[in-house]
Amino acid sequence: MTKKDFIPSSYIVHKTEGKVTYRSPSNIALVKYWGKKENQIPANPSISFTLDSCATTTTLSYRKLKVRGTDFSFDLLFEGKPKPDFKPKIKTFFERTEPYLPFLKDYHFTIETSNTFPHSSGIASSASGMSALALCLMELERELANDMDPSHFANKASFLARLGSGSASRSTEGPIMQWGQHKDTPESSDLFAIKYPYQVHEVFHNFQDTILLVDQGTKQVSSTLGHNLMHNHPYAEQRFDQAHKNLTNLQLVFKEGNLSEFIKIVESEALTLHAMMMTSMPYFILMKPNTLAIINKIWAFREASKTHVCFTLDAGANVHLLYPENEKEKIKQFIKNELVAYCENGQYICDQIGTGAKKL
Ligand code: PMV
Repeated sequence: MTKKDFIPSSYIVHKTEGKVTYRSPSNIALVKYWGKKENQIPANPSISFTLDSCATTTTLSYRKLKVRGTDFSFDLLFEGKPKPDFKPKIKTFFERTEPYLPFLKDYHFTIETSNTFPHSSGIASSASGMSALALCLMELERELANDMDPSHFANKASFLARLGSGSASRSTEGPIMQWGQHKDTPESSDLFAIKYPYQVHEVFHNFQDTILLVDQGTKQVSSTLGHNLMHNHPYAEQRFDQAHKNLTNLQLVFKEGNLSEFIKIVESEALTLHAMMMTSMPYFILMKPNTLAIINKIWAFREASKTHVCFTLDAGANVHLLYPENEKEKIKQFIKNELVAYCENGQYICDQIGTGAKKL
């Protein structure tokens, strides 16, 4: 497929106004996307668990303009209030997606959005937010076209979400999403994410993700800046190569349910992401003392309890604890006894792998 496949030929239905709502979850990458080429094309393939509770709900109301606008016309409400600082990101999203959604300047839009997780928690809302908005726009396009093949709908929703934020391409569906061309996954594409197409052992069903909120106030390195740090990075090529290999190795891990190998890949990916930031110019350390304390606690507990809890990190200080559902009680106790003390205001969020966005 090429991006031309996402340019619609013509619409047959006339819609003057309407409203659509989607709830889209966030996702947590196992093999990380870090580094991109022009037009939001990833420098390496990535794979993620779609989450369930951490989500954005977006309602898109649309009203046809009497005369097609010269610019995009939209209002943005976040948690019921106007949020001007979110508007530039949406405008950029409209600019990037207009070639594929030629109706954008024909309507005035009101975008009402809210998150289930606290805004300042350090959980990025771009993946869930851009995915929810892309799905709302696809719903409008489906109405204008009268009908649409479900696989085209799914691919194009992910394609549009990607143009908003790369990781958003992996939030439109679930439970495991893969984005970026990978030789051992012939269906994979740089343009959109696909549902992981191979066998997944039942130990990964209902996998748990508890997000420990270590440092909620700290500003993360913006992902635009972060991805750019991979240009001319001394270890970039080796890193991209490693991501390909880790994805290949994960295929067997998923098939066999090999949790020890899963842990090695996932923790190494998290530390590599941070190593890339520490070795770029300029350099950053996004982990906090409590992030490291938690990692050491996890290692000690895993060794002593023979459980399969592991960690992963985003571009920030929060720690995602991943573990199989059948170890939930033991791990919850461990979190309460040993990890809550390292969370800011004792806060953490219990989530698990989910099936993807839903129309409400
Ligand atoms: O989607 P972006 O551009 O915000 O990049 C996200 C990058 C990471 O969250 C650090 C990794 C990933 O694959 O989600």
